[in-house]
Amino acid sequence: MIYFDHAATSYPKPPEVLKEASKVLQYFAGNPGRGDYSLAKNSGRYLYQARKTVAAFLGIKPSANLIFTDGCTASANTVLKGFLRPGDHVVISSMEHNANWRPLKALESRGISLTKVNLLGEVKSAVSRLENALTPSTRLFVTVHGSNVSGDLLPLEELTQCAHRYGVKVYCDMAQTAGFLPLDLATLGVDFAAFAGHKSLLGPGGVGMLYVREAKSLVPFKHGGTGMHSESPNMPDFLPDRLESGTPNLMGIGGLIGGIQYIQNRGIDDINRQEIALTERFLTGLETMDHITIYGPGRGMPRVPVVSINVGNLSPQKTSEFLEEKAEIAVRSGLHCSPLAHETLGTLGRGTVRFSFGYHNTEEEVDTALDVLDHMRHIL
Ligand code: ALA
Repeated sequence: MIYFDHAATSYPKPPEVLKEASKVLQYFAGNPGRGDYSLAKNSGRYLYQARKTVAAFLGIKPSANLIFTDGCTASANTVLKGFLRPGDHVVISSMEHNANWRPLKALESRGISLTKVNLLGEVKSAVSRLENALTPSTRLFVTVHGSNVSGDLLPLEELTQCAHRYGVKVYCDMAQTAGFLPLDLATLGVDFAAFAGHKSLLGPGGVGMLYVREAKSLVPFKHGGTGMHSESPNMPDFLPDRLESGTPNLMGIGGLIGGIQYIQNRGIDDINRQEIALTERFLTGLETMDHITIYGPGRGMPRVPVVSINVGNLSPQKTSEFLEEKAEIAVRSGLHCSPLAHETLGTLGRGTVRFSFGYHNTEEEVDTALDVLDHMRHIL
């Protein structure tokens, strides 16, 4: 199989992921922080060290401000439902995934108001469109970092600075950028960020992270045991315990550590260069085909390795099936759980066929996809 669906999840996982996850199952399978015998204590130490490793990789200080969750969606819900109060106004980018959009729509019925803004294109005008959307009751700006549909990379630093000038907090969805771009959360300045462990961070599904700048800025969305201060009916007021209750997915966290080991051994810059080179090669090939429509940023614009296209009048589903039948190429078709992004691109009714490149893809695989797509002009 030629796997071009890394924006959905990375596959196959590097051997480090399997090795580390199985090490956890073998040696650290106790309940971390919940027991005074060696297995539980060692599991607690593993979790402590894992948090430090992931936090250092993402530039998060102190490491306690990194919360492990069961995925980006859980992180998004923790931020949005834990931060917003009736009467708050939220500005949201027009490229959001349902992980952010649906919780916000659910909060609308509880007195939260929303304004959607298109932040694509030239940076200065994107910043001024954000500025124009802010009102005295805006408390939060919500934006994806890299679009899972078009591949656009939004100018996060400039947008964050703008929101902060007006005292508005910033929540960023980094599902598509963590593991692809070197990130330094301390410098980026966002107040909250959500991460998926299983995409470019190469870990298994079911593990994600949340970054919180200020411990008490969120009301806990989830309540339960943390192994600490058990006598109190309330959640502890310190991180990570305040936002991280229940037995953690230590095997998944182990797999994530394996993914980060692979990225660090190889070098994130090397992976980034390869994925961008494959994206550019693909775009160059597509540009010669007049039966292909390409969506997304212009050539040379900042992006993640994601390309959305359509082939003539074929439905994305038919195109995807054809690619698999002819050359065992796996891509994602449809709306990619991001109807807002498709509305912005003008593809809401039909969707697109999405190619997303990963750490092990090759030029030969890209050329095979280009050959099949070129050949498709004969079936239209
Ligand atoms: N959000 C993931 C995707 O874009 C699942 O495919």
